[in-house]
Amino acid sequence: MTSEETSPAILFEGVGVLFGASPARQWLNIQDLLRDGQSKDAIRMATGHTLGLADVSFTIDPGEMFVVMGQSGSGKSTLLRLINGLVVPTVGTARVGGVDVASLNETDVLAFRRQTVSMVFQHFGLLPHRTVTDNVAFPLRVQRCERAAARRCAAEWIERVGLSGYGNAMPAELSSGMQQRVGLARALVTGAPILLMDEPFGALDPLTRRTMQLELKTLQRDLGKTVVLITHDPLEAFTLADRIALLREGRLVQLAAPEEMAAAPANKEVEAFVSAAHRLP
Ligand SMILES: Nc1ncnc2c1ncn2[C@@H]1O[C@H](COP(=O)(O)OP(=O)(O)O)[C@@H](O)[C@H]1O
Ligand SMILES: [Mg+2]
Repeated sequence: MTSEETSPAILFEGVGVLFGASPARQWLNIQDLLRDGQSKDAIRMATGHTLGLADVSFTIDPGEMFVVMGQSGSGKSTLLRLINGLVVPTVGTARVGGVDVASLNETDVLAFRRQTVSMVFQHFGLLPHRTVTDNVAFPLRVQRCERAAARRCAAEWIERVGLSGYGNAMPAELSSGMQQRVGLARALVTGAPILLMDEPFGALDPLTRRTMQLELKTLQRDLGKTVVLITHDPLEAFTLADRIALLREGRLVQLAAPEEMAAAPANKEVEAFVSAAHRLP
């Protein structure tokens, strides 16, 4: 194998994120509080700063489906935003394709967001007054791709996500499942190797959700994409993931393959996720 094949798609090394007025200055203090076993709330009371993440290290392989779980406020979206450079680590490093994202200047980070990572949102984020084709073509137009070529490319992805014949429809005419297919096509159209998905199926009814999950898995395998997917749904995590990361109050509780997590849950919270995933829907 070449080194490119073996090097991780994403690497977090000792990443900590603190939100507030002077995070870098507070960090040593925070570390002491964490070492004392203080909760996130206690840290906020003591310092006026909110803990996003602490001590997070992991690698994600190219082509991996990496699922992030955890209660609301546990740091899932922060983890995703570190990957596309919307959040900068207070300490530690987040590398994507070998590049330290925080070191990119403004121009380079924009190019990076267009070429290397693309995002699928829970509430689709479609342009309501543009057709399906124009929505999917949009990222290419931003990259100054010529209109006809962008629309041709969009048409291919519209077909690929199962929306043939809907190119001229407006988003509001589509069911929510179909709207998320548009969101997916728009994320795929740039050819970015990494897909970031923040609860992409959270707004869909259970049946549609199951269908989309299975289709995503197939697409991801066929295209060899690296996917980082956030979910609240234990069944979704266990169905899709190559590995699952469970966060609590900004820290990694467990990072393991689903079967490994089921066999040896790190604590009661993980155990509860595992049993929720294995209960019939
Ligand atoms: N820009 C921000 N400014 C201040 N606090 C933030 C900011 N972004 C996130 N947080 C806080 O960081 C913690 C983690 O947030 P987030 O990553 O969005 O959690 P999750 O996605 O798991 O619900 C939360 O307590 C949240 O309130
Ligand atoms: Mg979130």
